[in-house]
Amino acid sequence: MSEKKNNQVSRRQFLNYTLTGVGGFMGAAMVSPMVGMAVDPLLQAEGSSDFQYVMDVSEITQEPQRKSFTVPQEDGWYESESEQTAWIYRTENDEILALSPVCTHLGCTVDWESGDHDNEFFCPCHNGRYDRMGVNIADTPPTAPLPAYEYRVEEGKLYLGKAQPRGGA
Ligand code: FES
Repeated sequence: MSEKKNNQVSRRQFLNYTLTGVGGFMGAAMVSPMVGMAVDPLLQAEGSSDFQYVMDVSEITQEPQRKSFTVPQEDGWYESESEQTAWIYRTENDEILALSPVCTHLGCTVDWESGDHDNEFFCPCHNGRYDRMGVNIADTPPTAPLPAYEYRVEEGKLYLGKAQPRGGA
């Protein structure tokens, strides 16, 4: 008889076990999403969206075309998009060139063949000039060529990555 009594759980013990279990479950349910949010950006694969579709390769001509494209950006937990622009064309060697329009002097936007600047990129801010390959012309303010975007061609489509500097004079 007394053995049977020892195996029984008192009402107080039952309530303690139940409340501890429910409390632990609710605590875990509240904390786990927070831990997931905190760790998630660290676990994201890097570089999966580094290249963006810009245009079909068949549309690229020897005449530079100005194309805009959107780049997703992540800063920790903040996601946004930035719009970028490139001058895209084929060189005389039939290679694809995608140039940043950001002047290497003080960051104004260069234009192709504006005014009387035939076959050149021109920056109106301080009369900066670049030749057809985007190389800065001597005795004008820019001291480096226009940066060139990294690119990939996949199934006839042109994807651009980051604009890379091309040295300076
Ligand atoms: S910013 Fe382009 S020439 Fe000065």
